[in-house]
Amino acid sequence: MSLDTTALNQAMTHFDEHDTVWLFGYGSLIYKAGFDYLERRPAFIHDYARRFWQGSHDHRGTPEAPGRVATLIEAPGHVCHGMGYLVSPAVFQALDVREKNGYLREVIPLHFDDGSTAEGLVYRATADNAAWLGEAPEADIAAHIADAQGPSGPNRDYLLHLAESLRTLGDDDAHVFAIERHLRLLLAGEASR
Ligand code: SIN
Repeated sequence: MSLDTTALNQAMTHFDEHDTVWLFGYGSLIYKAGFDYLERRPAFIHDYARRFWQGSHDHRGTPEAPGRVATLIEAPGHVCHGMGYLVSPAVFQALDVREKNGYLREVIPLHFDDGSTAEGLVYRATADNAAWLGEAPEADIAAHIADAQGPSGPNRDYLLHLAESLRTLGDDDAHVFAIERHLRLLLAGEASR
């Protein structure tokens, strides 16, 4: 798949007739919206897990030295917590550009704490995209993140903001918190040198 998924996403017609759409955010979209929304509330999805397996060439790294950012992998039985945003479909024009480094829009059922559900949209990067980095030990992912940076800032800020947001949501994401622990040890080591 080409590195830039903007055109693929803009060809999606699924929500064309809708005035509003629920968007599920699980990475930077939890802590940095950057678009107008009508409503924002915690949401979760079934059968996916958040993983720092996606490369970032345009936000938290560069093509020569990609950063590592979150995507969703299929994980039957798993629940992934994040943030739901009720938006006008017009916001996808800009979001398609923000998420262009391998993410594709997918239709997904969102669940809310009050028991209600809604069909919504998520940006997900799968293993066949050109920026995919894949699985690695969490300590290695932390070391990678500690060194990377890109036009949107240091890769470490992405991880630390996400971990903080998940804590606020009351989520216990073992993968993210393990990387955070390794990263904080590395940063403490850097500071004491
Ligand atoms: C998301 O946050 O939902 C997608 C991945 C990202 O932009 O970090």
